[in-house]
Amino acid sequence: MDSTKERIGLIERALQEALSLRPAYEKKLHQAMEYSLMAGGKRIRPLLLMAAADAVGGHGENFITAACSLEMIHSYSLIHDDLPAMDDDDYRRGKPTNHKVFGEGMAILAGDGLETLAFEVLLRQKAAPETLLAVVRELADAAGPYGMVGGQAIDLDAEDTSIDIKTLQKMHAGKTGALFRAAIRMGAILAGAKEAELAALTEYAEKFGMAFQITDDILDVTGDEALLGKPVGSDEKQHKSTYVSLLSLHEAGELAKKAVDEAIAALEPFGERAAFLRQTVQYLLDRKA
Ligand code: IPE
Ligand code: IPE
Ligand code: MG
Ligand code: MG
Ligand code: MG
Repeated sequence: MDSTKERIGLIERALQEALSLRPAYEKKLHQAMEYSLMAGGKRIRPLLLMAAADAVGGHGENFITAACSLEMIHSYSLIHDDLPAMDDDDYRRGKPTNHKVFGEGMAILAGDGLETLAFEVLLRQKAAPETLLAVVRELADAAGPYGMVGGQAIDLDAEDTSIDIKTLQKMHAGKTGALFRAAIRMGAILAGAKEAELAALTEYAEKFGMAFQITDDILDVTGDEALLGKPVGSDEKQHKSTYVSLLSLHEAGELAKKAVDEAIAALEPFGERAAFLRQTVQYLLDRKA
């Protein structure tokens, strides 16, 4: 298997290629889409998709097309998340946010463009028709009103009001958890996972998503802007409901640890083939970016 660095290189090239296949009608739209998609980012979701395929005995590299489609949805979600009507942030992945460079209207369209292109790209993934149908459904479910967009709507509605922990969990499971869940499930389904394997990996993904957003909320308070590549203090500025605002920093940290332990426990049946999945969820507790 390739090293993580090599895989990130493969993902970067595949993303560039997918975008260049059919340049958008309007040059500025194309540039706006490219600006955010190719701005770096940790590429965790595509890496997880490929690693889930490895965990069930497949070859992650075979599913790089599906991995790119997921990263396109993620990039679009960030462009819209940063808009003045949402989190109103000026800085992302170490660069000015999309709307700061291209204007709000073009940033909205760049997000829309990446969202739809994601599905066009996913349909290029080599797989049996019924398998492809299953992963298209995974992505559509995860991206839409029962997933990422649904969670973002709860997030928006929870500004300036206090929500309970159950609503907070639902919000996180949607806005952040759903795409991680899709990453893992898509990789596993494409590689032919058995029912029990899919269930165990889904459990891993849900706990991963929870730990990821809790640590994101913590970093919004304790993080280093230069390392994060995005502003700290954004949640407080927007009066967001987060794990840190509802609980204490300490309690949020404890919950993240618990989620990481549960994610690792779910990987038991996979042994060494899940090494990357194990390391990646463990890294969440010490991450700086
Ligand atoms: C940020 O995601 C948005 C959240 C879901 C909290 P990442 O931290 O994966 O962002 P990039 O892709 O590395 O920039
Ligand atoms: C955003 O959560 C999640 C999505 C983009 C769907 P945040 O608003 O906490 O993400 P950051 O902190 O801006 O990256
Ligand atoms: Mg947000
Ligand atoms: Mg934000
Ligand atoms: Mg955040």
